[in-house]
Amino acid sequence: MSIVYNSQNKVFTLNTKNSSYQMQIGRYGHLFHLYYGKSLLDGETAEHAITVACAAYTPYAHDSQEERVQPNIAPQEFSCYGVGDYKSDCIHAVFADGSQSIDLRYESHRIFDGKPTLNGLPATYFGTTEAESLEIILKDTVTDLRVALLYTIADGYDAVMRSAKIINDTDSSIYLESALTGCLDIQDNGYELIRFMGRATMERMIERDPLKEGRLTVESTQGVSSHSANPFVVLCEPHTNEYSGDCYGISLVYSGNFAITADVSPMDHTRIAVGINPKGFRFMVEAGDSFQTPEMVMVYSDEGFNKMSQCYHAMYREHLCRGYYKDHRRPILINSWEALIFDFDSDKIVDLAKSSAECGIELLVLDDGWFGVRNDDSSSLGDWYANEEKLNGTLAQLVDRVNAEGLKFGLWFEPEMISENSDLYRAHPDWCLRCPDRSPALGRGQLVLDMSRQEVVDYLDETISKVLSSANIEYVKWDMNRPLTDVYSKALPAERQGEVFHRYMLGVYDLLERLTAKFPKVLFEGCASGGGRFDAGMLYYTPQIWCSDDSEPSNRTFIQYATSFSYPMSMISAHVSPSPNHQTGRVTPLKTRGVVAMTGSFGYELNIALLSEEEKEEIREQVDYYKKNQDIFQFGKYYRLTNPYESNVVSWQYVSQSGDKSIMAVEWQRFPIAPHPFCVKLKGLEKNAKYKVTVDTTKPFVVETKLDDERRGNFVKNRIVGKEFSGNVLMNVGLRFYYMKEDYTAFFIEIEKI
Ligand code: DGJ
Repeated sequence: MSIVYNSQNKVFTLNTKNSSYQMQIGRYGHLFHLYYGKSLLDGETAEHAITVACAAYTPYAHDSQEERVQPNIAPQEFSCYGVGDYKSDCIHAVFADGSQSIDLRYESHRIFDGKPTLNGLPATYFGTTEAESLEIILKDTVTDLRVALLYTIADGYDAVMRSAKIINDTDSSIYLESALTGCLDIQDNGYELIRFMGRATMERMIERDPLKEGRLTVESTQGVSSHSANPFVVLCEPHTNEYSGDCYGISLVYSGNFAITADVSPMDHTRIAVGINPKGFRFMVEAGDSFQTPEMVMVYSDEGFNKMSQCYHAMYREHLCRGYYKDHRRPILINSWEALIFDFDSDKIVDLAKSSAECGIELLVLDDGWFGVRNDDSSSLGDWYANEEKLNGTLAQLVDRVNAEGLKFGLWFEPEMISENSDLYRAHPDWCLRCPDRSPALGRGQLVLDMSRQEVVDYLDETISKVLSSANIEYVKWDMNRPLTDVYSKALPAERQGEVFHRYMLGVYDLLERLTAKFPKVLFEGCASGGGRFDAGMLYYTPQIWCSDDSEPSNRTFIQYATSFSYPMSMISAHVSPSPNHQTGRVTPLKTRGVVAMTGSFGYELNIALLSEEEKEEIREQVDYYKKNQDIFQFGKYYRLTNPYESNVVSWQYVSQSGDKSIMAVEWQRFPIAPHPFCVKLKGLEKNAKYKVTVDTTKPFVVETKLDDERRGNFVKNRIVGKEFSGNVLMNVGLRFYYMKEDYTAFFIEIEKI
């Protein structure tokens, strides 16, 4: 890892383990992007390969007459509005005189150890010896508007972290119409963009498209990163797959409105511009003040998506995720939601705890409905005090009873919301987001609190802290069940209303920071109607996030597969829920639900007391299995072996940190008519080491009555179970399986080094 500035040719080179990122100060002070890709050798540059002017009838900077620097052609590090760059701008400001052009040129730079924090925003963190940073100050040619571009690289990671701080050193206020984190300019085309789109209960569905001339924006305007899009994309070459080809991951560490825009210009140049969505954004920066953009994390891989994901997983696990549960085993939980919905009292909760304890489950989460007078979703949000009538006593008494069954206790909150039918609303009707004289739109019958207001954050801090201190509460589920509308704050003047979306996020982050600091041993889990705010910003505060309300395994497999492209599996909260499934009505084997849920942060969400003795025994086995292998599931390396979009067989694999043990999961969706055996190749093993293969239980291969199935079962038993193979054979020849006559089947294979 090194950051080098060559004062002769004015080239900055950031070298990570296997990649180089290069910029150059041009003759007139423009900061050009030169290169991002496979490592360059010492002293090598890409300066000969860029073009700063080539187009007819295209504006160029007035002072650059000799060279004619055309902003629409020259590869920009931080594109400016108003001076001839017609692709997405990183900065668009309105000055006091109404003018809107900005022309940023190099002023100074410094290279230093470590990485500074970003005021009020989540970001990756590194110690002084673990990372190196470069700050480049750009200044407008006419005004004293400056932009500080921050770049950090870290030991062992092929990642470049970037953010920008816009500093208003003029003597009047300015309005930012856009303030992005940065752009990646490549003077080339022919790339593909992978984006993660979706809807509630079917989040992060993969779309992969060739980028053609024009503009494609992946965005949220919902105030949360949303179910519909994710603040993460992959730019890749058409042939790139899991294990070969070039790709760039681009992840924004932010949970509110974002935009990732891909422009392909008529000159066949590609730009990816990343940051807070300019839609609905207009931020006033007073003289002497500054605006900090969120961080983006770019990862380059020359060996396909797997290598990129490994980098994100390791880095987000080690340098974004914080707190006690970053390094400690997460408790296996039972959540009351799909077990009881709103229909519970303390006895039912204790019964759930009892049956869960019998299966070895470690934490009971009391979901929605424990506070105010909430027996359905129409009331009480904001009234964060226990409904003692419903709980037949105090919260502390209930927690004690659950603890007495041997389980930890966790509680659901939806802090950012307010019901019209609540004491809070009756006391503070102006605390919700609403435009003057308009009735705000409802979502799930509720309104959104104005988190941009200090007194709202203070109220939530105080009331939630009071609840958390009132009993032995060791987990919090932080839900958020509707997107923002009527984004107007009564506390801000007219000219500052364009700040509310971002200030809302700053308020949420502030509250999360206060509560996680005050209750460092409480495990916070994020949630937004399932996975509606599943992003790197939330991961900074909540080590795990409920991935989707759809936990039916055949759908979940797709959601978890796609989510794993940038987020570590330990962040993906996954539960075994009832069958038939609440969302899809599909009936699936308990075993399959277990295998899929164990792939993430593991738990249950069903009424165990209603299950048969056989099913309870199976849950006990699953819990034991997870406990035995939790280090692998939580801290191991994760590999996607097949792609559910292309294959009926879905397979993935974990390898322990030490490399001694691996667990492979095989799942198939439908039993195909007249199937043939299929082969899956493993990854991440040592070529020359010997491994013994076992199947966790014989279950999928014991369908003992039908001759046909016995034959299939024996096929696996005879060729795989208990057999020894080299890593080389497992990775290059693979293991061969035979379908059993069952839909939605899944099982684990263990591979142990001998
Ligand atoms: C939406 C969440 O996704 C569910 O898990 C559950 O907590 C409900 N909200 C409760 O209202």
